[in-house]
Amino acid sequence: MDRFKGKIVVVTGGSSGIGFETAKLFAKEGAFVFLTGRRNRELEAAVAAIGANAQGLRGDISSLADLDWLFDEIKAERGRIDVLFANAGIGEFAPLGSITEAHFDRTFDINVKGTLFTVQKALPLMNPGASIILNASVAGIKGFLAFSVYAASKAAIRSFARSWSVDLRERGIRVNAVSPGTVPTPAYDSLGLTKEQMTGFLQAQAAATPAGRVGRPEEVAEVVAFLASDASSFMNGAEVFVDGGFAQI
Ligand SMILES: NC(=O)c1ccc[n+]([C@@H]2O[C@H](COP(=O)([O-])OP(=O)(O)OC[C@H]3O[C@@H](n4cnc5c(N)ncnc54)[C@H](OP(=O)(O)O)[C@@H]3O)[C@@H](O)[C@H]2O)c1
Repeated sequence: MDRFKGKIVVVTGGSSGIGFETAKLFAKEGAFVFLTGRRNRELEAAVAAIGANAQGLRGDISSLADLDWLFDEIKAERGRIDVLFANAGIGEFAPLGSITEAHFDRTFDINVKGTLFTVQKALPLMNPGASIILNASVAGIKGFLAFSVYAASKAAIRSFARSWSVDLRERGIRVNAVSPGTVPTPAYDSLGLTKEQMTGFLQAQAAATPAGRVGRPEEVAEVVAFLASDASSFMNGAEVFVDGGFAQI
């Protein structure tokens, strides 16, 4: 229960879904957790649900000014970061032929640029033994209808984990990626599917998954916690799939 006692953890996108469940788990196991997100109400609700070991910092990871402010606050409050879960990200459908510049820019600004500068700006606060976990996706190694821009952004995240494990070797900081499969979260509400379409989609995903079901955010959180802990001390630059086997067959 006290795996992360005394640790300072940052979870971007900690106000919802996978990020929220992960922040909750870290706090439950003794860490002090900074949660980020753009919407204040959701952030406040998440912090209230987690309790005294959490603090919300509102900001957009695609804004370098927001990131500067955010890490200045963390430095002033706690002075260091032991674990960074760079989780914030978005996904929107757009089939090739209808992809707009705005769709591309939004996806890459948040998922790729935002993740890159989140990690880069966190580094001055990180010491040897610290752990960075990036949230990638099974989409990074698969093809999905009308999801190519998102998939490419997540392939970039997986690539970052490889390269940054080398960049950070002298600093003693590990970088790994977690790649969830189908894990219903509030993000699914903004995919533009009707209730019936969503039910059909989730049934089809469950049928295509050896586990025979879709996943839960808590199941991703457990793997992130493992990658953050010393139990994974010889793992670096890896991609760990939490997909019930979906992308493995
Ligand atoms: N759920 C899945 O099936 C699945 C599968 C594979 C990978 N993933 C990845 O898992 C991560 C979390 O997804 P989720 O399903 O948990 O979605 P979610 O419930 O919508 O949560 C996303 C979180 O990220 C925050 N966020 C989004 N854009 C942001 C920005 N520009 N700056 C700061 N915070 C931002 C959101 O808060 P605000 O909107 O208030 O900013 C929210 O807290 C994403 O990177 C996603 O690509 C999810």
